[in-house]
Amino acid sequence: MTPPLRIAVLASGRGSNLAALIAARDAGTLPVEFTLVASDKASAGALRLAEAAGIPTLALSPRSYPDRRAFDLDLFARIADSGAELLVLAGFMRIVDGAALAPWAGRIVNIHPSLLPKYRGLHTHRRALEAGDAEHGASVHFVTAELDGGPVIAQARISIESGDDEDALAERLLPLEHRLLPAVIALIAAQRLALGPNGITLDDSPLTRPLNLSGTQLSR
Ligand code: GRF
Repeated sequence: MTPPLRIAVLASGRGSNLAALIAARDAGTLPVEFTLVASDKASAGALRLAEAAGIPTLALSPRSYPDRRAFDLDLFARIADSGAELLVLAGFMRIVDGAALAPWAGRIVNIHPSLLPKYRGLHTHRRALEAGDAEHGASVHFVTAELDGGPVIAQARISIESGDDEDALAERLLPLEHRLLPAVIALIAAQRLALGPNGITLDDSPLTRPLNLSGTQLSR
């Protein structure tokens, strides 16, 4: 049997996606071991969730560093020291310096609340509404130095209903995020999905478009 994948999670906020990962591990559907949960905010709910689950935590303040690169290099070095094989960004609200990312190429993923490549950056729900889109969603992608620009692994979709506002969309999307992220990490943990020189492969064949979440399952 493959040993559990050692993962670290970076989060700036409440940590509901982290909670979903912990729940999936506890349910036996996600073979991972959490080496560290780290945050740029000492007050992040994600840190409290990790403490309650007995996972080591780390809070570092960007203000204690001369610049972004110095902060990112120290943070990512400490994550490497934790023994993590994969780094999961789950609501980490910072742009990461390319020099810190380089050693993690192909080993770092992010969950973003839009159907990438649409709406990189902030206020994704508002922007989907303003554009009059018929559907919205969330994406999990490999992280590169380009903000929300790395290869997309999988997406979950919802339709936009008349009368939806930002909060309603966010609330309807979140439970799908909570299924999408563990499902993607499970494929990586099973060594079925990886990022290679020619893009993402699943079961050794190229992924030509993002996987789609249906229920709790991902399919081509
Ligand atoms: C999620 O919507 C995620 O897609 C985005 O930030 C939010 C984090 O929520 N990147 P939580 O902290 O996991 O509850």
